[in-house]
Amino acid sequence: MNLLQALAAAVGEANVLTGEAAAPYLTDWRKRYRGRAQAVVRPGATAEVAAVVRACIAARAPMVPQGGNTGLVGGSVPSRPGLVVVSTSRLDRLGPVDRQARQVTAGSGVRVADLQRHAAAAGLAYGVDLASRDTATVGGTVATNAGGIRVVRHGDTRAQVLGVEAVLADGTVVSDLAGLPKDSAGYDLSGLLVGSEGTLGLVTAARLRLVEPLPAGRTTVLAGLRSVVDALGLLDQPDLLAAEVVVGPAMDLVCSALGLPFPLADRWPVYVLLETAGTPRLAADSDAVVDPRVWQYRERQTEAVATLGVVHKLDVAVPLDRLDELVAALPDAWAPYDGYVFGHLAEGNLHVEVAGAPPGDADVDGRILRLVASMGGTVSAEHGVGTAKTEWLGLCRSPAQLAAMRRIKDALDPDHRMNPGVLLV
Ligand code: FAD
Ligand code: MLT
Ligand code: ZN
Repeated sequence: MNLLQALAAAVGEANVLTGEAAAPYLTDWRKRYRGRAQAVVRPGATAEVAAVVRACIAARAPMVPQGGNTGLVGGSVPSRPGLVVVSTSRLDRLGPVDRQARQVTAGSGVRVADLQRHAAAAGLAYGVDLASRDTATVGGTVATNAGGIRVVRHGDTRAQVLGVEAVLADGTVVSDLAGLPKDSAGYDLSGLLVGSEGTLGLVTAARLRLVEPLPAGRTTVLAGLRSVVDALGLLDQPDLLAAEVVVGPAMDLVCSALGLPFPLADRWPVYVLLETAGTPRLAADSDAVVDPRVWQYRERQTEAVATLGVVHKLDVAVPLDRLDELVAALPDAWAPYDGYVFGHLAEGNLHVEVAGAPPGDADVDGRILRLVASMGGTVSAEHGVGTAKTEWLGLCRSPAQLAAMRRIKDALDPDHRMNPGVLLV
């Protein structure tokens, strides 16, 4: 039996795609990364995933797990020819909400928005929210440890995960879906899979914590401020539900690129979007509008930047007391190109978008990421390393940390069959 026959035996012929049918799975959301694959395969159950992995082992074919394919660092499409894309689109079962424990089990192919609706129907909420919610999946957000707009309130994806079920690179299934709030029995295999970007195994399901819904009477305000320091001064207030930032030129861009009216009376160096349960406290010297529709000026930044072509996207974070210094230093680092900055204020997580640089020119990325590292920051605060940032991982991880990561990879995936080219090369 050849590989395609073995895959068809595992999942049914209709779920093995090649040629034109496979094409949508081979290019990422930004159209920045394109790959080639022997096939795209869509298992519908954990046992089918295990059978797919065994078929790939027999054929010596590496695999790339794919969820919603909204990843921004090239990790969800084949990094080289000869891979098999394992799509989780059919692993979309949502279990019943346990209201007492405030938990639910979700298949890895469940879309975040569907999980949010499922939790809401039971009077609860899922703590992670992000603009890609309609397409990004539970498995993809677990595999990248996605952040988003509610980290200030509920933490990142890691903070929601009570356990995962996954198929490892040798085809074995490890399952931890009991949802025990306390468990000290040995290594945290589920924790290891969170943020592993498909390089250690394919997550098939996750047991997730649910939270109280956001208060109905919350207030959303967009404020123009004189500086990042003024913006950071707004973080110290009760019942903060969101705290996002847009630096001046990015606000102009989202308005001009998407035809939105400018939201405030004046232009300001920095804009902050705050959501609070009560009435937000604002800086004395600021200009503000209260309206939930101001979310579009923050959430549509990705879309606005995409109108400039394939930009260099960086996803950095620095300690909050260095954020002002970073924002001030960025224009020199991205010169001679143009830069746009927005992000998640409370976590010091800035998305730095460099427009005009040739896609293959990594010098500008290096300048920015070295600057970030010199301030004690990270080269990826939420999108992951993917293929885009492998050469920069050493800026924020020591040789000892990298060596330990490699030993983990070699132990769990000695033949490097799971997402080669991603995270560690
Ligand atoms: P994919 O893109 O399919 O895959 C991402 C990575 O996870 C790949 O390495 C893939 O191999 C791996 N993977 C996917 N599924 C599995 C699985 N079941 N098991 C093992 N590995 C798997 N990200 C944020 O963190 N915060 C944001 O606010 C945010 N906003 C966004 C807004 C827009 C408009 C867009 C397009 C993207 C945004 N992202 C954001 C990035 C993206 O949505 C996240 O990285 C998300 O977690 C990816 O989920 P996905 O299902 O699309 O995964
Ligand atoms: C965001 O916060 O809007 C996202 O992480 C997406 C992006 O960086 O483009
Ligand atoms: Zn983000």
